Amino acid sequence: MYICLEGIDGSGKSTQIKMLKEWFATIGQQVFMVKEPTESDIGKLLRNMLESTRATEDNFQNTLALLFAADRTVLMEDIMKAEFQGKVVISDRCFYSSIVYQNDGEWISQINKHAKKPDITILLDLDVETALHRCDGTDQFENRDFLEKVREKYLELAKKENFFVINANNGLNKVNDDIKRILSPNFGICL
Ligand code: TYD
Repeated sequence: MYICLEGIDGSGKSTQIKMLKEWFATIGQQVFMVKEPTESDIGKLLRNMLESTRATEDNFQNTLALLFAADRTVLMEDIMKAEFQGKVVISDRCFYSSIVYQNDGEWISQINKHAKKPDITILLDLDVETALHRCDGTDQFENRDFLEKVREKYLELAKKENFFVINANNGLNKVNDDIKRILSPNFGICL
């Protein structure tokens, strides 16, 4: 099973993923953790580029889209291997991030056609004001107007792709319970 957490910068994905990893350990389920951008050379290049003041410009975004797609292509083999070994793959972002952060359109789907679709996608939905307070401001995407648009696109995509949407304003433990409630039935657990 391939589970993906999505959400705007500052929505609390990393913390929830850490808690989820601990929960899976308590139920004896092996996991394989994934984070995009990855730690590959392409991922490192991407992290540098995200700090550029040009990051939100159209042409720059097209370059980012191609690099994000290349970065995740490398991941796909590892994800399939982990699934084959019976591990649950927990991913911090996937190609859905490219659809909402980069310039939308058919083109993004085409360059990501080799990216595996998660079995379950959970969107941590949070108002931009609160999210920005949690960001360190290094990435150029951590900007009010930009993130408002990203949040809107996430909510549209959530309907189209049947994401589970969680109110991420509710405090760590409640958000964690909500996530576990969504996942439990898939692991024969009744919460
Ligand atoms: P994030 O996931 O918030 O990681 P960290 O907590 O390490 O900063 O940051 C990654 C940034 O990359 C975030 O602003 C979203 C952006 N991004 C894209 O624009 N497109 C993509 O396809 C992906 C995977 C990420």
